[in-house]
This record gives sequence, structure tokens and C-alpha cells, in this order.
Amino acid sequence: MILYGASGHCKSVIDIAESVNEPIRCIYDDNPRVDNLFEIPVIKFANDVNHTDEKWIVSIGNNEIRKTLSSKLNVVYGALMHKSSSISNRSTIGVGTVVMAKTVINAGVKIGEHCIINSSAVIEHDCVLRNFVHISPNSSLAGEVSVCEGAHIGIGACVLQGIKIGKWAMIGAGAVVTKDVPDFAVVVGNPARLIKYATSNDV
Ligand SMILES: CC(C)(COP(=O)(O)OP(=O)(O)OC[C@H]1O[C@@H](n2cnc3c(N)ncnc32)[C@H](O)[C@@H]1OP(=O)(O)O)[C@@H](O)C(=O)NCCC(=O)NCCS
Repeated sequence: MILYGASGHCKSVIDIAESVNEPIRCIYDDNPRVDNLFEIPVIKFANDVNHTDEKWIVSIGNNEIRKTLSSKLNVVYGALMHKSSSISNRSTIGVGTVVMAKTVINAGVKIGEHCIINSSAVIEHDCVLRNFVHISPNSSLAGEVSVCEGAHIGIGACVLQGIKIGKWAMIGAGAVVTKDVPDFAVVVGNPARLIKYATSNDV
């Protein structure tokens, strides 16, 4: 497998791959600050890179940048699920998505492409997550929640059953979301309240 982006998030992706004995051949980066990460070579990306025989993951935490890069690369994407995650056979996970340690993904869940399901997150039955979503560590979605493209659920947040989170919305750390959240909204607190609408720098 090949990774793109030698960021902090990339370190967690390397751990996931290691847990399932998936070798990482190398990591590409536009501006490499190191020549290796955990002894995996880090190489400056050039447009003529050709690894058609390998699956790729864009290992960048920022949802917007992940979207831009994944649409630009002409490669085949894979997905990585940590060995310790509990994933229902009755759920689906799109390419480019990474699922970190100790997560729970229950029956009927549909997860899109290039999402991050971070450590110890819980995605309850029948949730639908669109592409480029990030569910941060220790956050929980109750049953039948829908999360639109690019939305970010902050660390330790929880979302009550049946709620819709709009595209590119940001749910603050520790928030308790009790009603639908509009596109691009930034909400915080318990119960979650709107504080502003996100600019591209916030998401
Ligand atoms: C919601 C969030 C994006 C807002 O960031 P911001 O735009 O920089 O906002 P500010 O820090 O200027 O805060 C604005 C106001 O909201 C409050 N606030 C910010 N985050 C809050 C939170 N999580 N819970 C409660 N209140 C919060 C601030 O205290 C401030 O209140 P004030 O105006 O009364 O002083 C950010 O605080 C946050 O929670 N990020 C989540 C990060 C995360 O989970 N990362 C996980 C990566 S794996």
C-alpha cells in the first residue's frame, strides 16, 4: 500500500496497516520534512509517480485537503480497518477510508469514501456517512444519524438518534447534538448551539 501525506494522522494510519500486516511501501508528500517515518521512506510527490499495482490512502487529517488530493490523484484507493475495530458484516465502508483502533461500527451503517473513523468512535446502527467525513476519537453517533460530505464530529461529541449533520459542518469537542445541524455550521456545547458558519480554513 502507498500513503500520501506524511502528517501526524499518517502515523495512526501506519499503525492500522501494521495491525493487519499490510505493508506500506512508501509515503509521498508534497513537502517532505523527513526522509522516513517509522523507517518507511518519505518521497517528494511528482506527477509521474506510477504505482498502478498498489492501493493508495490519502493520509491527511484535514477533510478539505483530503478531498482535493484524492480527486487529483489517478490511482486506485484501498481502505484500512484496525484489527481491534468491531465492524458489522452488515455495514459498508468506501475506499480511501481508515478505521482506527477500538471503533465500533454496527449493522446497517454505510460509510463513504476517504472518511476517518478515529479511535474508539461508535457508529450505531443504520447511520449514513458521506465522503470525506471525520468522526473524531471517542465520539458517538446514535442510530440512523446521517452525516453529510466533509463534516467533522469533534472529539468526545455525541449525536442523538436520527439527527442530520449538514455538509462541511463542524461539531465542537464534547458537544451533545440534539437537533439537525445546517451545512457549514459550527456548533458547540450541551445542547449544541450554533456559534458561526465555517470558512474553508475551519473545516
Ligand atoms: C468548535 C471549534 C472548531 C471552534 O474553534 P474556533 O472556531 O477556533 O472557536 P473559538 O476557539 O474562537 O471559540 C469560539 C467560542 O466557542 C467556545 N468553544 C469553542 N469550542 C468549544 C467546545 N468544544 N465546547 C464548548 N465551547 C466551545 C469558546 O469558548 C468561545 O466562546 P466565547 O466566544 O464565549 O469565548 C473547536 O473549539 C473545537 O471544538 N474543535 C474540535 C477539535 C477536535 O475535536 N479535534 C479532533 C481531531 S482528531
